[in-house]
Amino acid sequence: MKPVKITEGIYCLPAIDWNIRDFHGYATEQGTTYNAYLIMDEKITLVDTVKKEFADDLLEGIGQIVDPKKIDYVISNHTEMDHSGGLPRVMHKIGENKPIYCSKMGYKNLPRHFSPNLNYQPVENGGELKVGKRTLAFLETKMLHWPDSMVTYAKEDKILFSSDAFGQHYAGLERFDDQIGETIMTYARKYFANILLLYSDLILKLAEKITALGLVIDIICPDHGIIWRKDPGKIINAYVEWSAQKPKKKALVIYDTMWQSTRKMAEAIVEGLGDEGVDAQCMHLRSFNRSDIITEVLDAGAIVVGSPTLNNGLFPTVSDFLTYMKGFKPKNKIAAAFGSYGWSGEAVKIITKAFDEMKFNVIDPGLMVQYVPNQETFEACFQLGKKIGRAL
Ligand code: FEO
Repeated sequence: MKPVKITEGIYCLPAIDWNIRDFHGYATEQGTTYNAYLIMDEKITLVDTVKKEFADDLLEGIGQIVDPKKIDYVISNHTEMDHSGGLPRVMHKIGENKPIYCSKMGYKNLPRHFSPNLNYQPVENGGELKVGKRTLAFLETKMLHWPDSMVTYAKEDKILFSSDAFGQHYAGLERFDDQIGETIMTYARKYFANILLLYSDLILKLAEKITALGLVIDIICPDHGIIWRKDPGKIINAYVEWSAQKPKKKALVIYDTMWQSTRKMAEAIVEGLGDEGVDAQCMHLRSFNRSDIITEVLDAGAIVVGSPTLNNGLFPTVSDFLTYMKGFKPKNKIAAAFGSYGWSGEAVKIITKAFDEMKFNVIDPGLMVQYVPNQETFEACFQLGKKIGRAL
């Protein structure tokens, strides 16, 4: 591991996970990075660790700066194991009596993951820790991403160690926003959609709180991906925009198909949407990963889902996608269902019920075609697309 200097006395220790392609169901086509940070002050402080498999790499990286045994304090901003999995190995090396500062929920949750005998020290929301000439302040960010989440702010350096927030699943040699440029926003957007969309309201409140506190942030150091030093405001503004979930004139027609009838319906609906000037695309559930579809759901105004009826229910990939999407509680969507069937035809009703549960505005009772679409039913699909387009 190659430590990277962020500013005098503060280093990033990036564990680059080049090979991971599935991060608990999220397609990480470019791998990811787990960042820990080292603050060299009178009290040498490690902020977060890395995934368990990279713990020895982390210790080796720290060793290029200082003997790990000289670390005085550890801060655990977040209990999830991509950041805390390395904790037992690190504590074994540096001394299990050293304090691990964490939020009050972290104090409850860390011993549920690791030895209860480690020296966990809960901090107050807004509490501070002097580590020498530096002061570290802690701000709870419950549910961003877990109940235990907090961020650490190095006051004198104006550096925010933001844990999961503002991260990206990206493995590369670049460490800073000015080294990678606009490309990183694609990864940041996908990360937001698949990790933080559910917590949009909390993000907006946090942004207000940061403004109210007058917190000046020169550098944001997330636990995944690149560090925002050139323009930290860019990612903060993007989070505010994404959290607002303002719908665009954009529609997704998401479907699966058995004998191509539902595919043909999907394509006719997209043509109708296009006829109304809507930015529309077909997304076949065995051609697109669910995490890539959710990235597009973020700003889509219309969600149209199609499934053939299989064994009196949905095609399994459609069930999977609806379950995944429902978890994020996306807002401000109009919706409609469609699908082919042979004899019973439950799929459209099941999808429509799922839309109702998600509080989508269902603008059509749903379109069902028996067996294979014909000229008349193709026209009905096209008109459904136009109807959705006009509603957008
Ligand atoms: Fe990157 Fe919620 O862990």
